[in-house]
Amino acid sequence: MSKGYFIVLEGPDGSGKSTVCDIVCEKLINEGYQIVHTREPGGIEIAEEIRNIILDPKNTAMDAKTEALLYAASRRQHLVEKVVPAKKEGKIVICERFVYSSLAYQGYGRRLGFDDILKINEFAIGEDYPDMTIYLDINEEEGLKRIEKRTFKDRLDKESLDFHHLVNEGYKAVLERFKDTKVVDASKTIDEVVNEVYKIIIDLIHD
Ligand code: TMP
Repeated sequence: MSKGYFIVLEGPDGSGKSTVCDIVCEKLINEGYQIVHTREPGGIEIAEEIRNIILDPKNTAMDAKTEALLYAASRRQHLVEKVVPAKKEGKIVICERFVYSSLAYQGYGRRLGFDDILKINEFAIGEDYPDMTIYLDINEEEGLKRIEKRTFKDRLDKESLDFHHLVNEGYKAVLERFKDTKVVDASKTIDEVVNEVYKIIIDLIHD
């Protein structure tokens, strides 16, 4: 049986994660790799239900710590129910977002603090960290321009410019802390970004 991997694609809203992930996964599947393309929050029924609660624009009363705990809870369930079993079966799990998102959005955006968010997530994750995280790097203005074009905005898309600014600060702190992250310039053309992400994944698998 081939070796399984857990690979995460990260980046702020508007960095193009979903588009890039869709194309890269399709390319890998066409080449015969066993790919599980998934996302956070969500990816399985329980976690998709938690996602709906977190992102519902009508849930304006949600407390910041409740939000952080719900993200961690959905992460835990998604890991044990989907990611870890698929990796054990030798599949390549490619997941949009993971703990960096909580550190940036809840740690910085909600000002709950990097260390506390890391702590609750360490409890949720246990030993099951990704084999690699790829970060799609987009400058703040460009990312915000792309969110503005969305026809449906979820509860987090609707946050203030200050919030999104803090999230970007948060991602910078995350990259400072986790130096082994692979950073890809997401302001390049979609083909260029896809090729770079694809190559990073292939290099990992064939290492
Ligand atoms: P998505 O739009 O990329 O699917 O993500 C949904 C939103 O949830 C997005 O605005 C980022 C946010 N988010 C957090 O705030 N913390 C987290 O831990 C995760 C995974 C996502």
